[in-house]
Amino acid sequence: MTATFSPTGRDTYVGTARSRVDGPAKVTGLAKYAGEFAAPDLAHGYVVSSRIAKGRILSIDTSDAEKVPGVVKVLTHENRPRTAFLAMNYRDMVAPPGSPFRALYDDKIHFSGQPVALVVAEDFETARFAASLVRVTYEAETPATEIAELKDLAYDPPKKRSGIKPPPEPWGDADAAFDGAPVKVREDYRLAIEHHNPMEPHASTVVREGDGKYTVYDKTQGVANSHGYLTAVFGLNKADVRVVNPYIGGGFGSGLRPQYQLFLAMLAARDLDRSVRVVLTRDQMWTFTHRPDALQTVSLGAGPDGALQALKHDVIQETSRYEDYQETIPNWSGVLYRCDNVAMSYRLAQTDMATPGDMRAPGAVTGVFAIETAMDELAQATGQDPIALRLRNYAEADATAGGKPFGSKELKEALRQGAERFGWARRNPEPRSTREGRELVGWGMACGIWEAMMQQSSVHAALTPDGRLELGNATGDLGTGTYTILTQIGADALGLRMEDVTVKLGDTRLAEAPVAGGSWTAASSGTAAMRACRDIAEQAFRLARGLDESPLANVEFDRVVLEGGRIAVADDPARSMALTDVLRKAGVERLEATGKAAPDKDHAKQFESYTHSAIFAEVKVDEELGQVRVTRIVSAIAAGKILNTKTARSQILGGIVMGIGSALEEESMLDHRLGRFMNHNLGEYHVPVNADIHDIEVIFVDEEDKANPLGVKGLGEIGIVGTAAAIANAVFHATGKRVRHLPITVDKIL
Ligand code: MOS
Repeated sequence: MTATFSPTGRDTYVGTARSRVDGPAKVTGLAKYAGEFAAPDLAHGYVVSSRIAKGRILSIDTSDAEKVPGVVKVLTHENRPRTAFLAMNYRDMVAPPGSPFRALYDDKIHFSGQPVALVVAEDFETARFAASLVRVTYEAETPATEIAELKDLAYDPPKKRSGIKPPPEPWGDADAAFDGAPVKVREDYRLAIEHHNPMEPHASTVVREGDGKYTVYDKTQGVANSHGYLTAVFGLNKADVRVVNPYIGGGFGSGLRPQYQLFLAMLAARDLDRSVRVVLTRDQMWTFTHRPDALQTVSLGAGPDGALQALKHDVIQETSRYEDYQETIPNWSGVLYRCDNVAMSYRLAQTDMATPGDMRAPGAVTGVFAIETAMDELAQATGQDPIALRLRNYAEADATAGGKPFGSKELKEALRQGAERFGWARRNPEPRSTREGRELVGWGMACGIWEAMMQQSSVHAALTPDGRLELGNATGDLGTGTYTILTQIGADALGLRMEDVTVKLGDTRLAEAPVAGGSWTAASSGTAAMRACRDIAEQAFRLARGLDESPLANVEFDRVVLEGGRIAVADDPARSMALTDVLRKAGVERLEATGKAAPDKDHAKQFESYTHSAIFAEVKVDEELGQVRVTRIVSAIAAGKILNTKTARSQILGGIVMGIGSALEEESMLDHRLGRFMNHNLGEYHVPVNADIHDIEVIFVDEEDKANPLGVKGLGEIGIVGTAAAIANAVFHATGKRVRHLPITVDKIL
């Protein structure tokens, strides 16, 4: 295997199935979320949202609201304290280029639902009632929210968003090759705008600690990002603000950037000199980030055998008028398939909506749906089996990175194992060929891909005389299992039981760490944790060897093993000492170390790092009603070393369920006259429920990778990528209807 954790490589926990260590706290209600922390002087803020999408505020009458007993103050752009926006254009850690939205800044309205006032009261209900009495008049302009009508205004992003890959320069001559190709597929693809909708809505509780100090509980995927935002925008000393968020009730990317409730809570806390909580309502969850709309055209030219001769992928993606939000959409096509003539483009179109944002596998969900549906269309057009077509065009190197090899890529093995488990060989290629009662049965497949990234991270470790290990850093656990994998890594590295390890996360007082996103947390914080523990192991070893009559006298570190709470000579286990005795006899209070991790630049110079998947879907479609059921999914994942087979499987299951939502249900519907999302509630914005989910099987194929010492690549996003295409391809196989605009609702099938 790829990784060794304890100095002698004896892993007890890493690689096994372990339940989440934070599970009991979550199911018993002990886990507290940002909107649940209390303070003796807590006031409650309720946001008044703009009724128009574009224009300006003519007047705000707050007099009736202020008369309600229990109302403390109504904040608007007219009476906003001038202590805010000291750093006018402060951009957070993951912000796109541009000028971030500033709540209550002036009378301008940029998007429907924009906060125009904050009503602060002694309790939430009073604030909510008083908010209904705030009268706002507007001068409305006509908003533009349909990108199909804004195509001609599309532009190249003037500045690159950090971490985002613009399309590479074209190679070959894609247009000429397409024109001359014997077989052609050229189609438009589009996904619906989606909203993240984590169970826990966005909330911030700002607790005034006195002396100008604040403890802030914020629903965020990165406390450091919220901390940087607050200190910059309000001009506060870094040491005076502590941001805490031990648990996250789901994020999917919606918590990567500081949202306006954080700003409003701190604004009110500073103005009123008391603690303030602001919780957004479910419908207000439609008033900031979303997965952006994008118009895509994929053109594939191929020989009669399906070998690609031309590949074009052109994208126009929505952004706001104040930020150039970018994600990587077309590039995946050029990474997945080998072709001599490739051209990809990516432009933006500004709409009168809030800036879109990262939503689980941002860009890949969008781009891979298009290319993987187009490949299915090419399979159909050439009479090739969809797997055979992908193998014929399989990329052994990353052409978008000048032909650099992949550090590891077990996609072929994923295709083989997935197909075998699914029973693909029994598929009759003819659409509409299989029927069960009144249902048409279809089998489809697709590939998925996501980047395997790392970020700078650090983890602090402390071993105490009672033999317990504490690990901590500022990253967040989105529910993904970060607490658990760090516990496993720590226990194995020092030969302890998982029960002897405590992990603390989500606190700016802990070691520095990036936002939890991009599927980089296991690689980044996992590596840092392992290094911190190695450091502790070496310290303990040196202490032990230095003791009088040490059983480890004259032994080198590479000959010892840490197991069962003891440090022992590997080939002479009788020579050993309990770690607790080492600390006690050496008279040491505790051993501490900070481990650091960063992307391996040498590795990155030589190799590209991606995770891959092969997804197989079975659908049953009621021929008369057009209702689609996804009855079976097999997803085979190649993502390097799997640290915890249980939490890993859960990550992929969650991604697949979200992919089923994307394929069949999720759609934020715009009223383009109002520029407003109409179905801003979970009654009308459909997500899969238990009845929609049938058999899902996850396979992890062996993959050895050396981009980091753990050999891990990350799993948070790969499960969703390609899933919608596999389902759409299965729907085509069942019905003969090709749906290129998600979600696949009844009206598109009948
Ligand atoms: Mo993820 S969209 O990076 O939280």
